[in-house]
Amino acid sequence: MSTARGEFSSRFGFLMAATGSAVGLGNIWGFPTNAASNGGGAFLFTYLILAFLLAYPALMAELIIGRHAQANAVNALRGLSDNKVTARVGAGVGFAGMITVTLILSFYAIVSGWMLSFMFAAVADIARLDSLSDWLIQSGTARDLIFTLMFYLLTIYVVVAGVRNGIEKWASRLMPSLYFILLALIIYVMTLDGAMEGLRMYLVPDFSRVADPELILGAMGQAFFSLSLGVGTMLIYGSYVSKKENLPMIGGMVTLMDISVAVLAGLLILPAMTVAALNGIEIYDAEGGLIAGPALIISVLPALFDRMGDAGLIVGLAFFMLMSIASLTSSISMLEVPVSYIVEEHKVSRRKAGLVLGLVTAVISVIIVLNFGLLFDWVVRLTTEFSQPLLGFFFAIFAGWIWNRNSLLAEIRQGNPEAQSGLFWRIWPWYIKFVCPVIILAVYVQMIF
Ligand code: TRP
Repeated sequence: MSTARGEFSSRFGFLMAATGSAVGLGNIWGFPTNAASNGGGAFLFTYLILAFLLAYPALMAELIIGRHAQANAVNALRGLSDNKVTARVGAGVGFAGMITVTLILSFYAIVSGWMLSFMFAAVADIARLDSLSDWLIQSGTARDLIFTLMFYLLTIYVVVAGVRNGIEKWASRLMPSLYFILLALIIYVMTLDGAMEGLRMYLVPDFSRVADPELILGAMGQAFFSLSLGVGTMLIYGSYVSKKENLPMIGGMVTLMDISVAVLAGLLILPAMTVAALNGIEIYDAEGGLIAGPALIISVLPALFDRMGDAGLIVGLAFFMLMSIASLTSSISMLEVPVSYIVEEHKVSRRKAGLVLGLVTAVISVIIVLNFGLLFDWVVRLTTEFSQPLLGFFFAIFAGWIWNRNSLLAEIRQGNPEAQSGLFWRIWPWYIKFVCPVIILAVYVQMIF
């Protein structure tokens, strides 16, 4: 069925690629701002619970199915049972994931394009090219189109180079720099006046909000988005992991790294906002909530860097480099989903598949850019709050109910002969069968009422 498949060359390579996928704008932008506008520590608290108790088991379902099937999501889900109906539903879920991830990439690339243009603006500032820098930071259709397309070219370039020479190589280069830049920025911002106020906002929980349905739905969407779940990204990456690896353990490491970057990013963004406030920059919107949308990253923070003088030039550059790196290692994992399907299913070369699918998705982005007010928020909500958790529900059903239990246990034992004496073995199989689907449904149901 499939031609020679790619495989990550080492555990480190997989960890960088998978955390590269997981760590993205969702962590550095989405998480801190969600926390800020939803009761600070209350959101952090709910998010941590959902990340460990729901997202980690769901991540494991994708990794285990992927490594077992050694195939893209459509074929993997189709092949989990001999029953015709469930095979068809499985393929349907795989396709729905592919469409969802394509739409996610189409809005993600626009935002990532902003990150690139702000990064170049920081370079232009350093070179004292003021009018160029002004153009780069001013929102405009031409600028958005240019940088969105540039971001696609980078994404296509990496994906076309392959699993080892593209995805793994670039993630292994970029992710360590991401950690380094993030830590350096946190340390710097903490030394500034006004930072402690933001820290308090972030870490002191307003527990009256913990039971707020909006907050819980937000935290679940955030957890699914952050771990790249429900659309087959992690399934594909799982299919490139060697059978010698202990999957529950390396999946746990990916979860921990993803959560820690989100929590760390909160230590950067919220203190930076209150520092900005102290410098006379408006950080609240008309309704009195903290500015959380695009304005936060593309107006509040740049205004802050502006007032920092020469230090601000370097800090601004570092910040937008951080964002661009985080975006690229995520976008490649999105494009890989349809590319792997087309390559394996239709025997098209990786080069051709990457180019054509990248360009098709770019066209969707262009449509969104040209109808921004109408489409952008709608596509974000549809994909992340609706499709992703719903598809995650189906992945749990396939892992827990449709797949033959012995075959599932055999896959967990691969690379981990002592699995049977571990906690994961005893808990996860029934957990993914009963608990995960019920939690996802419960969050939806409480939303409806
Ligand atoms: N997890 C990434 C982030 O937090 C985004 C991402 C990468 C993603 N691949 C995905 C989101 C697949 C949903 C589905 O920014």
